[in-house]
Amino acid sequence: MNQYLQDVIKGLKSEDKYLLSRYFYNEEGDRLFQEIMELDEYYLTRAEKEIFQIHAADICAEFPSNNYRIAELGAGDGTKTRYLLEAALKAKSKFEYFPIDISPNVLNILKAKLEKALPSLKIKGLAQEYFEALSTLAQLSDIPLVVLFLGSNIGNFRRDNVDTFIAKLSDSLRPGDLFLLGVDKKKDPNRILAAYNDSRGITAAFNFNSLKRINADLGGNFDLQKFSYYNNYDPHSGESRSYLISKEEQEVFIKAANQSFHFEAHEAIHTETSRKYGASDLQKLASRHGFKIKREFSDEQKLFRNQIWEKI
Ligand code: AVI
Repeated sequence: MNQYLQDVIKGLKSEDKYLLSRYFYNEEGDRLFQEIMELDEYYLTRAEKEIFQIHAADICAEFPSNNYRIAELGAGDGTKTRYLLEAALKAKSKFEYFPIDISPNVLNILKAKLEKALPSLKIKGLAQEYFEALSTLAQLSDIPLVVLFLGSNIGNFRRDNVDTFIAKLSDSLRPGDLFLLGVDKKKDPNRILAAYNDSRGITAAFNFNSLKRINADLGGNFDLQKFSYYNNYDPHSGESRSYLISKEEQEVFIKAANQSFHFEAHEAIHTETSRKYGASDLQKLASRHGFKIKREFSDEQKLFRNQIWEKI
């Protein structure tokens, strides 16, 4: 049984039903996410882009002065990273860029784009899981490493997984190696609610795509009309949580699983967590795992932050 099917069955069988948000990103999901990033209410991408536009040179000044490697976890379309790479090239230091993504297709598109924009860039995509790729890099040589994890992707981990992730990252790095993290800040809860409840309903469609994908790829018979999208924000935990709510009691059959799943009226499927971090949340996380926070950069409205962590 493939991993996707296993994860869907496990999620829909659990007492509090859930679907993992990593499965949002098929072709339709990628397209919807591109649209989200353009929305007025979705401030995250613009804020991080502003940080890079203004501070790329200052960020790169913290990188090793010569001969290092930049590895990016989940490289995406490279729009923001380009500012950083441009600044690093301008600083005339010798470095290589290793975007890491499980999809060779994403990497090929990114490579073609960056080679055109920055012809002097040395780029080598690694189509592997994050930590496999980092261990490949560690085996290649002991040249200092700067790991990028941008876009508040860390917010999408479930709470217990964040520590596992940072612990593994810490184990993959050598003292002096750097981690550049992009993370959304805790802020006025209404601003966060608006970002995940946009007026055009694109975020709702993005969440509904998890049901559409089950229908398309696993032979499900979810009737999307019988669910509604709901999101809330808890200012203590910093978690923005998204759900699809069953409007009525119903059975949904999934062919590939050869079973049906029962929904009570108003029963929820948790579809995504987008966690926001306060300064002390990050301080604790870094020190728990042997990192020192070296520098921090923010946008003018103080919505988003990029921190540079150093492995002690
Ligand atoms: C990819 N990730 C950081 C986005 C977020 O804000 O959690 C995904 C997203 N979900 C709804 N809107 C955007």
